[in-house]
Amino acid sequence: MTELGPVAWPPAPIRTERLVLRESEVRDRAAFIELFASPEVRTYLGGPRPRDELERAVPELPGRRQGLFVIDFEGAMIGTITLDRRDAERPGHVRPDAGEAELGYMFLPEAWGHGYAAEACAAALGWFTDELPDEPVVLCTQTANDRSMRLAAKLGFTEVQRFEEWGAEQWMGVWSPATPSG
Ligand SMILES: CC(C)(COP(=O)(O)OP(=O)(O)OC[C@H]1O[C@@H](n2cnc3c(N)ncnc32)[C@H](O)[C@@H]1OP(=O)(O)O)[C@@H](O)C(=O)NCCC(=O)NCCS
Repeated sequence: MTELGPVAWPPAPIRTERLVLRESEVRDRAAFIELFASPEVRTYLGGPRPRDELERAVPELPGRRQGLFVIDFEGAMIGTITLDRRDAERPGHVRPDAGEAELGYMFLPEAWGHGYAAEACAAALGWFTDELPDEPVVLCTQTANDRSMRLAAKLGFTEVQRFEEWGAEQWMGVWSPATPSG
């Protein structure tokens, strides 16, 4: 993954009806570890990582980089949204020069089923379009990941192609600023 490039970072915290999209802080460390150690969160993302390994490896201030939003509900982190550039070597592209902006999301299981991911992703896409107007955004997810597939459709991503990677069928969709989201 490569950073997005010429965007003003970090933006001021972005407020939605129920959430805040912000930079990571030291107090988010336990939630970052939880995301990567959770078997539910990691079902379609290569499986959970051992908690003791994460306790050693995760820095005091995790996730402080361009394109990574912490999603905050009532003062606590419930997930992350990322916007990065898709590596040219990976399969699936919509631009001849590759390097598409790619959306990713991970939410803690207790935050699923409330519409928080959809609300936060719509805000992140809005921010992206303000920064880089007219650029499409892609998203890849396993077709078996029902929740993620539903979220992609709700946000307005439309199918570009399906392909095999990491022993599973992957779905790639594209979103354009003209496409309604949320
Ligand atoms: C993918 C993921 C973010 C989806 O989370 P989610 O909570 O299902 O997504 P949404 O925000 O769209 O919420 C939709 C659900 O909220 C419900 N909901 C409740 N209140 C709502 C409200 N006020 N507004 C909208 N939806 C609401 C909807 O009915 C829907 O529930 P259902 O799917 O049980 O029918 C989450 O499952 C996750 O983090 N998975 C692990 C990481 C992962 O696989 N990421 C994919 C990487 S590509």
